[in-house]
Amino acid sequence: MNTHEFLSSAFAEALHAACDPLLNGMAVEVEAEVDSTNTQLLGRARINPVRPALMVSLSQTAGRGRLGRTWHGEPGESLMFSVGLLLDPKDWSGLSLAVGLAIAEALHPDISLKWPNDLWLGKGVGGRKLGGVLIETASTQVQFDTPTTARWCVVGVGINLKPRGNTDLRTPSAALSELLPLCDLASTATAVAPMLIKALKRFESQGFAPLRERFHARCALAQEAVLLSDGQSGVVQGVDATGALLVHTQFGDRHVSSDEVSVKPKPP
Ligand code: BTN
Repeated sequence: MNTHEFLSSAFAEALHAACDPLLNGMAVEVEAEVDSTNTQLLGRARINPVRPALMVSLSQTAGRGRLGRTWHGEPGESLMFSVGLLLDPKDWSGLSLAVGLAIAEALHPDISLKWPNDLWLGKGVGGRKLGGVLIETASTQVQFDTPTTARWCVVGVGINLKPRGNTDLRTPSAALSELLPLCDLASTATAVAPMLIKALKRFESQGFAPLRERFHARCALAQEAVLLSDGQSGVVQGVDATGALLVHTQFGDRHVSSDEVSVKPKPP
């Protein structure tokens, strides 16, 4: 076993110890390089969707972000992982907000949330992106008492640990090390993954509504002027019980869902 393999197996064991009590039988894998941890775990929907899985990769050759974007992360400078599990909530709306909130709360009081689920440092036009979440689902057949159609859900998380070099990002980036100078891959993953799993289980039974006030406490756009991708603008009032963004526009109040439009702070 070489040094990398040894460190990876010790890391995987620590993660397993932290996560397995929450999701019994969870497979924990630490990889040196994959295309994308989300792509890898989405493939499990066909193979063994009953076994929850957590995959961390030190690097990705085809990391994916929301809205078809690419996610870049240098080895050791970015935490990239995905959790895959069967999930059966009554209502899926607000899941991405619940995930972002769980990660922010696991890491630092000063991390804010840019709706729907970006992790930010700062608020409004001065906000910088620290991390992001990509949630994907696939329909799958599972054999419980009888063959049943179920939903396999993959939650992918990317967090900048160290400042990024030159990027073409539309939003300037931030790094966790600005808040936690000693943060590293293992400590960050071990802090975040169990809280994320707990949040997924809680979301499955309770949905987003009980988390609304906690989301508001970290909302990076609260009372900020914003531009919507459909051309309208307005001032953010918060989120509703389903996680839709409440925007006061000149045409009235809108409940904006994240599948419809994206939103960005409006420069003064
Ligand atoms: C975004 O901000 O647009 C979401 C970024 C999500 C990136 C993570 S990195 C681990 C997982 N694997 C991927 O390919 N994407 C997610």
